Amino acid sequence: MSRIGVFDSGLGGFTIAQAIHGRYPNQDIVFLADQKNVPYGNKETADLEDIIYENMRWFYDLGIRDIILACNTTSVLSLTKVQEDFRDLNLIRIIELTVSQLSKTRPQEILVLATKVTIASHRYKQEIEKILPTCIVHEVALPNLAKLIEDLADDSELHKDFSEYLAKYHRSNIDFMLGCTHYPLADKQLKSYLGGVSYSSIKPILEQTSLFSEGSGLFTCYTTGDKDIFQRQIKQLYGIDQAVNKVDM
Ligand code: DGL
Repeated sequence: MSRIGVFDSGLGGFTIAQAIHGRYPNQDIVFLADQKNVPYGNKETADLEDIIYENMRWFYDLGIRDIILACNTTSVLSLTKVQEDFRDLNLIRIIELTVSQLSKTRPQEILVLATKVTIASHRYKQEIEKILPTCIVHEVALPNLAKLIEDLADDSELHKDFSEYLAKYHRSNIDFMLGCTHYPLADKQLKSYLGGVSYSSIKPILEQTSLFSEGSGLFTCYTTGDKDIFQRQIKQLYGIDQAVNKVDM
């Protein structure tokens, strides 16, 4: 495997691409954030299938064949047309992978937090129940959180959103699954509101050693949105001066 693609609607995937870059510094990475269309999580699945088709075609035309779908919302879609038209594209979905870490810790109860599309699919619940049949799984859709994170919302704005959607679980100390790659950027605030241990996709993705290979360590970053805004978001959240290229799609 040479260059690997990492894809998301925005900042969540950047967290994953950066973590891969840190752990596998010689891996060549092409990261694409479809910020023109963020947030994905409240859209109709048919519209998302069309939007994501264009993004996958972009990777394909660039010669990239292995793409980590660093987006749970994308990972629950069928993407049938993508797979039919680009047969040698290897799409790496992240939900099963993310859930697999629970086989070690075996929580008895867990709260899944994700976008509306991901929660409506019940994919997390199904995958968790496959490996932990007696685990009590609660599911809560957070329709605003990914966008709040993109907008660099402060703690009080996040707290207001949690009070609207998560009041039932306030200080419940229940373990929770960050079922959207944007949410690790609000992990600290979620932990302080809910208590409990959090799980995310980052560690399980990094453990997929067979995905990664030695290249020249080139990390390139693209957005379909505004590249200056993306650069500022990256600087503020990660403290990195990252060159960003604009893609017209
Ligand atoms: N980060 C994505 C996910 O993991 C999508 C968030 C969004 O655009 O709504 O679901």
